Amino acid sequence: MSNPPYRIAIAGLGTVGLGLIELLQTNAALVTARAGRPIDIIGINARNRFKDRGLDLSAYTWVEDPMDMPDLTGLDAVVELIGGDSGTALALARKTLGAGKSFITANKALLAIHGGDLADSAETSGGVIAYEAAVAGAIPIIKSIREGLAGNRIDKIGGILNGTCNFILSSMESRGVTYEQVLKEAQALGYAEANPATDVGGFDAAHKLTLISALAFGTRPNFAAVQVRGIEAVSDLALSYAGRLGYRIRLIGLTDGQQMQVAPMAVPQDSALGRVTGSHNAVQIIADQAGAIFLRGPGAGRRETASAVAGDLIDLARGQGRPPFGVETAGLAVGKVERRSGADSVEAQLAILRVKDAPGVMAALTQALALKEVSVDQLLQPGGHDGHADLALVTHPAEPSQLQAAWAAVGGQDYVLGAVEAYRIEQF
Ligand code: HSE
Repeated sequence: MSNPPYRIAIAGLGTVGLGLIELLQTNAALVTARAGRPIDIIGINARNRFKDRGLDLSAYTWVEDPMDMPDLTGLDAVVELIGGDSGTALALARKTLGAGKSFITANKALLAIHGGDLADSAETSGGVIAYEAAVAGAIPIIKSIREGLAGNRIDKIGGILNGTCNFILSSMESRGVTYEQVLKEAQALGYAEANPATDVGGFDAAHKLTLISALAFGTRPNFAAVQVRGIEAVSDLALSYAGRLGYRIRLIGLTDGQQMQVAPMAVPQDSALGRVTGSHNAVQIIADQAGAIFLRGPGAGRRETASAVAGDLIDLARGQGRPPFGVETAGLAVGKVERRSGADSVEAQLAILRVKDAPGVMAALTQALALKEVSVDQLLQPGGHDGHADLALVTHPAEPSQLQAAWAAVGGQDYVLGAVEAYRIEQF
């Protein structure tokens, strides 16, 4: 006797929702074989029923209110592709999990903020949360950490988790175009979030980092603990001088379980992360047994993100649900994990600044740094013009707070023109 179908309802028919329906149609036979049974869509919903979506949806039952989806007869899972960290997405998650059904989502903001509570609810009722599509699009990063690397202690993870930012930074660097021009291009290409501030402000990457960090280090997701700095203030000058010193500036999400930060950082041009250009995402995991693992691929897109949702669906249809953050919620640490021996508390930084081109300026600058015990490792001054000179310097490693104090002191000197841009150097 063949197995009964796995029955899903899809809330949200945007890019990913339509991509998922197409995938389930196109790859129906292989999905059925791999799931061990057919996956049936028993309900769909979106804000506007009558919008032309370029796909024939007449075969699917329209559900007027997505909140009714968990009540559909025979339903196994709701696929939430609405987005947002509150409102319908949150209410639907609570209702679905409360009813002991599974909840599959691409919604990183929702889980970064409410993931702990939703995991509690899932555990109580027997529901499952699956969210491969929420982090780094098509890249199977959740599976890799939760399953493939389950026997490892993770030391550190660093990732390019926002395609829009990577597209902007790498295009500014390679094509010499302005920030504003490239942001418009990214929006036209469909990478960007509805509100571009979510991308360029680093918050989208921070949502994803929160989830990866919780999973890798066994903590409750704690979005509020991520230090977030976006790419809005990265100048053309910084990108170009970083290049001359052998670095690229990328928006990196970094976690060692102690500290989660998203910020533009300088990575060596020839490093795995430094070589990632365009809208791709990439994640580097340092694990105690497996060593360094690097995954790279599309971080957004219709078919690409649908691919991640389909992977989750097939697992759940096979009954292979796992605790969303690796272990049962009672076993999740609240706050930080213990620092691993050898984890870095110091960092080198790359700084770019414009100074008056006058005798004694360099001496004054190095003196100001020396007063904060910051030592210069490399210095580049390509030549002055119009009475000013641009400098790029690399420091020796120091405590971040010490470096911050040094840049604040330098920034206050009358020979410094404009802001000092400083970037952590991350030697992945
Ligand atoms: N807006 C995101 C990005 C894609 O640019 O990477 C979805 O997370």
